[in-house]
Amino acid sequence: MVNIAIFASGNGSNFQSIVDSYKQNKLFVNKIILITNRKNCYASQRAIDNNIKNYNFLLSNYKDKREYEESILKVLQKENISYIFLAGYMTMITDILINKFKNKIINIHPSLLPSFKGKDAVRDALNYKVYLTGFTIHYVNEEMDSGQIIFQKEVKVYKNDNIDTLRLRIQEQEHIYYWKIINKIIKGEEV
Ligand code: GRF
Repeated sequence: MVNIAIFASGNGSNFQSIVDSYKQNKLFVNKIILITNRKNCYASQRAIDNNIKNYNFLLSNYKDKREYEESILKVLQKENISYIFLAGYMTMITDILINKFKNKIINIHPSLLPSFKGKDAVRDALNYKVYLTGFTIHYVNEEMDSGQIIFQKEVKVYKNDNIDTLRLRIQEQEHIYYWKIINKIIKGEEV
């Protein structure tokens, strides 16, 4: 069993589903910590409600991104963290963390990559009028949403979908699968 860090910036519904599986003893994890980079995001509230340690880092408190990630790194080392799982963490990871966690940083993105990279993936898929989108779990490298794909799941787009309905259906699937894929990665099982 390993210790893992979840990085989040917003609502934290994926963080919640990972914590739920952990609390039900389904996750092959000893300890979860949450790293956030926004003040009072709902993910932090979820951490408080679920008795999970939350560290908050504001980029504006640091000289630059380098110093910011170095202080995150110190916490990860202190907490003996083996894997980082991004779940709605809205900033790029740099070489400071990537070099220390080689193939140990994983992201979930709400599109079938390599289509629709970036923060507006759900809106972009709708605007493009694709009939199939979904989510992708992938390794993180220095380019946005570009690392090797680990797992993908498709979600149909309906004619009457708007951003909210489509995002919700994608997230429902994310919540079903992310913790299961996390388990496989940690156990070294084939996905
Ligand atoms: C998810 O849809 C994930 O794919 C993307 O950001 C969203 C985060 O949602 N990277 P939440 O904060 O987990 O509710």
